[in-house]
Amino acid sequence: MTASSSVPKHHPPHQQDQIGGSNREENDPLFDFIPRRVTPKQVQAALDGEINPFNEQPYSTRYKRMLETRKKLPVYAQMTEFYDMASNSLQEFARNQVMIVVGETGSGKTTQIPQLVCYSDLPHKKGKIVACTQPRRVATTSVAQRVADEMDLTLGEEVGYSIRFEDMTEPAKTFLKYMTDGTLLREATNDPDLSRYSTIILDEAHERTLATDILMGLLKGVAKRRPDLRLVVTSATLDASKFQQYFSIDVHSPTPLLLIHGRTHPVEIFYTREPEPDYVEAAIRTVLMIHRAEDEGDILLFLTGQEEIEETCRKIDIEADDLLKQDPDAVGPLVCIPLYSSLHPAQQERIFDPPPPRRNPGGPAGRKVIISTNIAETSLTIDGIVYVVDPGFSKQGVYNPRIRVESLLVSPISKASACQRAGRAGRTKPGKCFRLYTERDFMKELEDQTPPEILTSNLANTVLTLVKIGIRDLVRFDYLDTPAPETLMRALEVLNYLSALDDEGNLTVLGGIMAEFPLDPQLAKTLIVSPDSKCSKEILTIASMLSVPNVWLRPKGGRKEADHARALLSIPDSDHLTLLNVYNSWMQNSKDPYWSQSRYVSQRSLLEAEKTRRRLESLMIRFGVDLVSVGEGPTLYQRVREALVCGFFMQVARKEGRAYVTIKDHQQVSLYPSCGLYHRPEWVLFNEFILTTRPYIRTVTAVNPVWLLKDAANYYDIDNWKDCEATRSLIRARNQVLGRSSSRLPPRRPMDRTEVA
Ligand code: CDP
Ligand code: MG
Repeated sequence: MTASSSVPKHHPPHQQDQIGGSNREENDPLFDFIPRRVTPKQVQAALDGEINPFNEQPYSTRYKRMLETRKKLPVYAQMTEFYDMASNSLQEFARNQVMIVVGETGSGKTTQIPQLVCYSDLPHKKGKIVACTQPRRVATTSVAQRVADEMDLTLGEEVGYSIRFEDMTEPAKTFLKYMTDGTLLREATNDPDLSRYSTIILDEAHERTLATDILMGLLKGVAKRRPDLRLVVTSATLDASKFQQYFSIDVHSPTPLLLIHGRTHPVEIFYTREPEPDYVEAAIRTVLMIHRAEDEGDILLFLTGQEEIEETCRKIDIEADDLLKQDPDAVGPLVCIPLYSSLHPAQQERIFDPPPPRRNPGGPAGRKVIISTNIAETSLTIDGIVYVVDPGFSKQGVYNPRIRVESLLVSPISKASACQRAGRAGRTKPGKCFRLYTERDFMKELEDQTPPEILTSNLANTVLTLVKIGIRDLVRFDYLDTPAPETLMRALEVLNYLSALDDEGNLTVLGGIMAEFPLDPQLAKTLIVSPDSKCSKEILTIASMLSVPNVWLRPKGGRKEADHARALLSIPDSDHLTLLNVYNSWMQNSKDPYWSQSRYVSQRSLLEAEKTRRRLESLMIRFGVDLVSVGEGPTLYQRVREALVCGFFMQVARKEGRAYVTIKDHQQVSLYPSCGLYHRPEWVLFNEFILTTRPYIRTVTAVNPVWLLKDAANYYDIDNWKDCEATRSLIRARNQVLGRSSSRLPPRRPMDRTEVA
């Protein structure tokens, strides 16, 4: 008998809507479930049943197979405790509305807890949604797919995800939604009570991303206004007392904490005797040593970024091939799999592939080496890892509010991070972790915890979001860790100069629209005021291109060709216009992948830019930002460059000798090596300031100083500036114009004028 023939027939559609109707009851595996009073036994029976309660279809054999795997997860074993805590009868939970779940990576928090919550909340019957936030896009999409499969439902229908520029949900159908924390935060700007959600799971809270931290503060407030809302905060680090204290109403009713007992295996830790001068080189050596000398088992190597990872993959592949050729009986085949956030989702899936097979029966086993950024530290669980190689570095944000420089720097990880990394080796059996630093450095040099992002980030975007949500007192907002007052002041100042906030700190009309765009405030403003310059279609394209991973490919062995191809696409005055040119040329060539390949530009980034452009375009239409263009012609490029000034006037540098110096902050910077402005114009604006081996400005456009005075008169009140070369140059520019027209420069932006007091 097949599964479907044993199933009772479906009811006609009109009866399906009558919740509680007697026929309906017999058919609905959840008919006797009382929301938030369900018992583990009931859930168990529903999971083991024949009919999927969420779509009333018979379960597939794949569902049953996956269920068997799920049953082995530690979370599953503690289902009773979970439902005890989640049931309304538990005093603490009812009072706090918050539960904390702590458990090792791989114990099933991300995939299972949201499902358990669905059985308790029954969101599909109440038109509500259970949300689960993730700090990373990669994990959001892959986990949503995994959970849709586990529940035997369709991704994008009952189970969906939402990330910046991509919404895979169906409003009438989706009841379980994975989303990035940033996306949920943006939703709060339009619905401060987040009223469509019945439970919100803040997953991976230990990562302490800026958005998750802000959400914790907001949701603590929302819970007071919405007694029906429940929060689950999950963490992979055992020390969750900070979260527990933060959410407890008072000492007498502590926030309930569920500790998942993971089944982890011991991990033996090795240190180097001396510090390693070159950690990449040491990492390659260590991976090959493991491959030659250690027993069967996959390797996970932590590096800091895409380029480093791709390069290392190539080097290890070559060396492993050599080993195999030298002595095919001694070592097995080896594959390297890169993992970083901008990697294509299909490529990311490769981490779940089995290791390569033995070359002949009885020969040495094959080995998989995953070379990953911090993503693999807690966000994604990879089974089968026995060896971890930890050089002790990751890219971390640093922000200096004094000079407004935000950068990602390769920095030493914390002790907590090092322990997480080591833990990845003990998932399936006892493992080994090779730390490429000395034990002394681990004890003495590494910080205990990685500082939370809120202490190391530029807060301009966050402050705009909070003001839009209606938080008036930013200093006394209920932060888990309070940011430096100077950082908050800087953010307010930037938003004021951009005319998003008036002098009293109130949101302007412009600021309200800026908060709707998932872009940095500078770029959002440029886009919104660009119709005034009759080039909003072009700025839209540029904004989209700036929002996707780097389009320029520079493969090893083809660098010269790539640079040559890039030079042919370059517009001499502006990297921004070059991006526009690449996109338009690609479009004119019907998005031909061969065109992209021969020009050394990434087809995938361009496709993503096209998708992003559509999303931004629909936001522009919704908020009445006109889509206009003067069309190709001599003035278009100048208009685009001038429009960029309206948002980026605080990111301007002037050439002084061999270097550039930023305006007001007086930082010496260089043009990024890939910059196309070979003639080195006197005045430039830049999209970003990056700090690598030294400070660089990247994605640069030449500007006329007169535009700065005209379009950003508030900021360039040069009569009050101290005397320096840049000031004198601006005064000369002003005098030239005044001499010609014998009138004062007219301020050009009506929107700014009316709204700044
Ligand atoms: O969140 P936590 O680290 O506690 O665990 P999880 O992400 O829910 O993963 C639980 C299990 O599901 C692990 O054994 C993963 O390997 C597996 N999983 C998978 O096979 N494929 C995915 N896309 C996600 C998880
Ligand atoms: Mg997880």
